[in-house]
Amino acid sequence: MINEAIGSSTYSHSRAGVLSYVSIFENLWIQTELYQQISESSRRLELANEQLKIHDKMQQEFISIASHELRTPVQSILGFASLANKAQIEPIQACKGILLEAYKLQQLTNDLLDVSRIESGASLSYVMEKVRINEIILNIVNAIKISLKQGVSIETGLGPNIGGVGSGGIHDNSDNNKEIEIYADKIRIAQAISNIVGNAVKFTDRGTIRVESLVSVDKKRVEIKVCDSGNGIAEDILPNLFDKFVTKTPGNENKRGTGLGLYITKAIIDAHKGEIFAANNNQTVGATFTIVLPSV
Ligand SMILES: Nc1ncnc2c1ncn2[C@@H]1O[C@H](COP(=O)(O)OP(=O)(O)OP(=O)(O)O)[C@@H](O)[C@H]1O
Ligand SMILES: [Mg+2]
Repeated sequence: MINEAIGSSTYSHSRAGVLSYVSIFENLWIQTELYQQISESSRRLELANEQLKIHDKMQQEFISIASHELRTPVQSILGFASLANKAQIEPIQACKGILLEAYKLQQLTNDLLDVSRIESGASLSYVMEKVRINEIILNIVNAIKISLKQGVSIETGLGPNIGGVGSGGIHDNSDNNKEIEIYADKIRIAQAISNIVGNAVKFTDRGTIRVESLVSVDKKRVEIKVCDSGNGIAEDILPNLFDKFVTKTPGNENKRGTGLGLYITKAIIDAHKGEIFAANNNQTVGATFTIVLPSV
């Protein structure tokens, strides 16, 4: 009886001991879990904080460059208006100057709006439909002809000559009369091509600009090439050519731009599941920009 009593008391003591060990282990385990969760959360917070700082810095830079760029045409407009006001230039001359600068201002504000939409992740709006790409190219080329410098010409070679992407020079003229069609937002795709052709015109002082369209051998892709005979792209900006505010026009203020055209163009081409690349011409002067888009 006594033995039994001792036995049960020893048993209950050792059981209590085991239970308290278990609860200590449980507590330790919970604490370790909690500690891991807290350190993981604080690591994530640190990362988010770093990203916010980078984002904040980029936004500050964007605002400072954008406001600097906006100031230039605004100052010119004020200059023309004030000269006309003091009758120091002919009103018609002032109007022409003001119009030109107002167009620049409009272009710049449109570009800045596009960039802020791209950056905010809201993306540009796209209304996709079947479009005839050659018609769009022709409209752009015809519109830009009037702004060509003396000694510069523009020509087109519009497909569908089978060849283009990875063709290895194979040609098949069987369906040459068929128009190239792609799924695209008419306005946005025209904006992208127009930016590239506009650059070719801006950076070419003599020679010929050639705009081509081709269909790949498997007919799944369309290639648009813009080849110019200008000075070529400065080698040091080639690796980040499609980033925003990347410009290099040494010694020529007339060609100065904001460096938003190619950034917006790439965003548009990406949204069309296409690709864009650029290279300086090997055999001749100038540069070639190539846009590859899926065909219908
Ligand atoms: N065809 C080209 N030949 C030589 N350099 C080019 C050509 N196209 C673009 N570049 C270079 O790439 C830079 C970036 O081009 P992008 O179109 O983005 O800007 P931009 O033309 O300078 O200004 P924006 O388009 O905003 O008016 C240009 O400043 C120029 O240095
Ligand atoms: Mg440009």
